[in-house]
Amino acid sequence: MTGQVRGVQLARLLGQWHALPGRRRSPDYAALAGSVRGLLADGRLPLGVRLPAERELAEALRISRTTVTAAYRQLRETGHLASRRGAGSWTMLPGNHRVASTGLWTPLDDREMLDLGVAALAAPPQLLSAARAAAEDLPRYLSGAGYHPTGVIELREAVADAYTARGLPTSADQIMVTSGTQHALDLVLRLALTPGGTVLVESPTYPNALAALAGRRARISTHGLAADAGWEPDLLLGSLRQTRPKLAYLIPEFQNPTGHLMPASLRERVVAAAHAVGTDLIIDESFVDLSMDGTEVPPPVATYDRHSRVISIGGMSKPYWGGLRIGWVRASAPQVQRLAAVRVGVDMASPVLDQLVAVHLLAHAEAIVADRRVQLAVQRDALLGALAQQLPEWRVTVPRGGVTLWAELDGPVSSALARAAEEVGVRLAPGPRFGLDGTMERFLRLPFTLPAADLVEAVGRIAAVRYDLDRTGRQRWREPAVIA
Ligand SMILES: Cc1ncc(COP(=O)(O)O)c(C=O)c1O
Repeated sequence: MTGQVRGVQLARLLGQWHALPGRRRSPDYAALAGSVRGLLADGRLPLGVRLPAERELAEALRISRTTVTAAYRQLRETGHLASRRGAGSWTMLPGNHRVASTGLWTPLDDREMLDLGVAALAAPPQLLSAARAAAEDLPRYLSGAGYHPTGVIELREAVADAYTARGLPTSADQIMVTSGTQHALDLVLRLALTPGGTVLVESPTYPNALAALAGRRARISTHGLAADAGWEPDLLLGSLRQTRPKLAYLIPEFQNPTGHLMPASLRERVVAAAHAVGTDLIIDESFVDLSMDGTEVPPPVATYDRHSRVISIGGMSKPYWGGLRIGWVRASAPQVQRLAAVRVGVDMASPVLDQLVAVHLLAHAEAIVADRRVQLAVQRDALLGALAQQLPEWRVTVPRGGVTLWAELDGPVSSALARAAEEVGVRLAPGPRFGLDGTMERFLRLPFTLPAADLVEAVGRIAAVRYDLDRTGRQRWREPAVIA
């Protein structure tokens, strides 16, 4: 069990459950049960939470208790609820699907494929000159052994300066350079989590973070993001207070996959609530540089931290290039030392040459990042335009930054669509990759990291196979797909 949802909270999540489109003449209890199933399938209602008592939900919804009793009975019959007399009812999915421990999700080296499965840009043109300049710097390091478990000092300083420029004074001894953000996450988990410890994550979230958590045998509890509005403050803070997880992993800037940006007020409240219940926050800032449309990014979450509760992780992959494999951790200086001690048991240190390339790229950060934002805005708009034209039934919230948009489809067909798209040369990451237990079949993540012409072509092919799915009468609902 990961917590409890109160009657008023569930009523808010259910919204207009009694007036859903397509309801026709079904009785109230069936409509209520159907709406709860929908919330579970979309990941907005976590698995393993205790639902309110029948009387409490009836009061919150202003309906009769008999209706709630009948709805709960139906949910039990369909395998969406488990009840024990005297102890309450917990959400579940039929077949007890779980997150698998192997979440392999990497790009294919298939040049014929339009790869919309990976949300990363090709290298910027400045990368070659940065690499040449790094080679010139290398002799300064060649007389040493080359092992720098916390990173070469020039890069630690450059990263610390970037935090300071964002309004968060940071010294180089608070920075540890890692081989990518993913590596940073794994190291922090090694330090801060014992097997079986609970970690709160957003749902949907970044699949490889789920893989890292599964690898460290975390118990995962989820906070469901609303497709249009993102985090629901009361529910998020309520989950922290009830679940008291050891860690929470959050992506506050242009969240992957939804693109949402967490407001400053919620950042402050999350840090305060985490401190009150003894939760450490892992804040993934992968997309912080990539705001668009003049959107101002709120202060870093760590700005509100007075008790070393916040560990920030980030890296070069999204604004610069994933192939560099440079990331970092920002934490207190003693935490950085402890992380370095963990790290020597893993990979000792990051490559010196790559770190020097990163130093040269960061020296031109302003120009490079400005170009990236323009490029991404053009590509995002091309993708939105193609979707509006070819798949007008899909609903999207326009992301104000990052590299992905999260489309709500016209049915629970995400996995079927991804399979069909692969046959016409488009690789997609279907919704269930971003949730737990086979949820999210009505959603699809679409990155706008490919050139605009490729995105338009890809949407054309997706629209054709979407149309074929209906025409060939293929089953619209499949068993939930397990992440594997
Ligand atoms: C939220 C998030 N965290 C971490 C990563 C991994 O980044 P890196 O390439 O720096 O390991 C990604 C890559 O897509 C991401 O989206």
